[in-house]
Amino acid sequence: MNQRAHPHSTTLTAVPPHLYGRWRRDPVLTLGTALMRAWFPAWRPLSPLRPTPAGDGITRVRIVGREVVAHDENVVALTLAAADGEELPSWHAGAHIDVLLPSGRMREYSLCGDPADRGRYRIAVRRIPDGGGGSVEVHDALRVGDILPIKGPRNAFPFAVPGHGSPAGRIRFVAAGIGITPILPMLTVAERFGLDWSMIYTGRTADSIPFLDEVERFGDRITIRTDDAHGLPTTAELLGPVPERNADLAVYCCGPVPMLESLRRYLADRSDIELHYERFSPPPVVNGSPFTVTLASTGERVDVAADESALAAIRRVRPSVPYSCQQGFCGTCKVRTLSGEVDHRDNILTEPEREAGIMLTCVSRSAGGDLTLDL
Ligand code: FES
Repeated sequence: MNQRAHPHSTTLTAVPPHLYGRWRRDPVLTLGTALMRAWFPAWRPLSPLRPTPAGDGITRVRIVGREVVAHDENVVALTLAAADGEELPSWHAGAHIDVLLPSGRMREYSLCGDPADRGRYRIAVRRIPDGGGGSVEVHDALRVGDILPIKGPRNAFPFAVPGHGSPAGRIRFVAAGIGITPILPMLTVAERFGLDWSMIYTGRTADSIPFLDEVERFGDRITIRTDDAHGLPTTAELLGPVPERNADLAVYCCGPVPMLESLRRYLADRSDIELHYERFSPPPVVNGSPFTVTLASTGERVDVAADESALAAIRRVRPSVPYSCQQGFCGTCKVRTLSGEVDHRDNILTEPEREAGIMLTCVSRSAGGDLTLDL
C-alpha cells in the first residue's frame, strides 16, 4: 500500500507559541521537542516498528532435481529449493511462479508439487520448438545446481475446496496434456480432504502425456483418454455423467482453448455447475479489426490481423520482445503508446497508467487507426 503524507499534517519543527503570549515559543514544548529530536533517531534502529526495506519480490531458488516426465521425453520437471536453504513462500493449488530465465525471458509455470511442502517447488515444462524460446531454454540450458530468480507464487486459478469455500459436493477435473500441472496439486488436496472427485486426462498419445506414472496411483478415479486411440473427446465425455439439474458439481479444467470454449458453451445455462478454468495458450481475439503498429525506434510498420494480437504481430519482427502469460494478467508486455487510441482489454492497468499511454500488447488493440509504440 502506498503511504502519502497528509497535506495538512503538522511536524515537530513547528513549536507553537506560549498559551498566554509570554514567549514566542512555549518553553515546555521547546524542551520536549529537543528531547524528541535527540531520542527519536537513537530509538528508531531498535524499534520493531521501523519500516522494512522494500523487497523486489524475487526469491532465488536452486534447481535440485531434473526429471523427464513424459515418455516422448518432451516434458521435463524441475524441483526447486530456496538458494538460502530457508522455507519457500507458501502457496495454494492452482498457483504459478514467474521464472526469470538466464536469457532475460520471463515465463510463468504452474506449481505442480505438494502445497504442503514448504521446502520444494516443482514445475514442468513441455518443449515447444517453434514457441518463443522459453521452453527450449528450460530444456537445453538449465541443469541441477543452477540458481534461478523467481517471482511469486501467485494464483489465478484457485481451488475452492467443497465445504471450505465452495457449495459443490463433487469435483470433476479435466486436464489436457501439460494442463495437468495446476491440476496435480488439486488432486493431492482433494485426496487429503477426502473429497468426491473424478478426472478425465486427455492428450494426443499416451507417450505425450506427462506424469502418467504419477496419476496411476489414483486408480479408476482418473480416465485416461488419448486422441490417437479414441478420437477427440466430446464435451459430455469431458464432464462424465451429470444429472439434468442440481448437479452439485464444480469443474476444474486446464487445456487448449477449443476444449475450454466447448465447456463454456455447454455449461452456459447450467447455474448448478461451477466452471473454473485456466488456459495454457492465448485466448482467441474477439471482435478484432486489423490495424498497423509503428515501432518508434526504427519506424518499422507491422500489420496486425483481425484475429491476432499486437504482440504476435510484433514478435514477427522483434522476436525478443518481452512477454509471458499472453493473457493480459502478468504485465510483462507493457509498452507505452506514443500516438493512437487504445482499446484496452486487460484488467490490471490502472487509470493513471492508461492515461499515460501504457497498453498490454498481448490483449489490447487499436480503438481505430494506427498505433505508434515506444519500441
Ligand atoms: S504477456 Fe502477460 S500481460 Fe501481456
